[in-house]
Amino acid sequence: MEFFLDSAEPNEISKFQKLGIIDGVTTNPSLIYKSKKPFRELVVEICSIIKGPVSVEAVSSSNEKMIEEGLEIAGIANNVVVKLPMTWEGIKACKILSGKKIPVNITLCFSSSQAILAAKAGASYISPFIGRLDDSNIDGIKLIREIKNIYRNYNFTTKILAASIRTKNHVTQSAVAGADIATIPPNLLDTLPHHHLTDKGLETFTSDWEKSGQKIL
Ligand code: G3P
Repeated sequence: MEFFLDSAEPNEISKFQKLGIIDGVTTNPSLIYKSKKPFRELVVEICSIIKGPVSVEAVSSSNEKMIEEGLEIAGIANNVVVKLPMTWEGIKACKILSGKKIPVNITLCFSSSQAILAAKAGASYISPFIGRLDDSNIDGIKLIREIKNIYRNYNFTTKILAASIRTKNHVTQSAVAGADIATIPPNLLDTLPHHHLTDKGLETFTSDWEKSGQKIL
């Protein structure tokens, strides 16, 4: 499973890039706004920190404008992925941009029918928002499972990028369901290694080793 960092903060991206555990980055207009940085400068900086795919979202509502924005965004760096919303306009723009070999991430996906359309339009990634589905008492992981089955049935090569991830369980269950990628917020990614039984076990090992009075070095 690939891990992408869901962040537009260069310092956060750099921290996890140095750990060698993230394979890409996803941003969206809200994360860009939160960064309070100039758009183009920020995208250039993010794309210089991480060599993997960096999703950057078009913000217009017409397919013509999305295509224009997509070409502009794709020109910023060679590892940019153009993010488009799951609307007919987004699908039309996806068809054109993917036809020009520009990778597209179709975002704000909440159903399997949307995921089928995205794959048929040549999207490189589909982003089902599992956390927001759960917020509406709809099983987000079930959607990942469904999309995985459909994509397998028809050999669609679009990668399933589980997004809107809020918990460790979202990460693990997305992996069980077969998502190719999980895009994880930094504060959640930070907690992934921790388990209270690991801490407890390490405490015992350390104290027993000290009691043995022995040294390795
Ligand atoms: O990549 C999509 C993600 O940023 C949305 O997450 O928690 O706002 O639903 P959330």
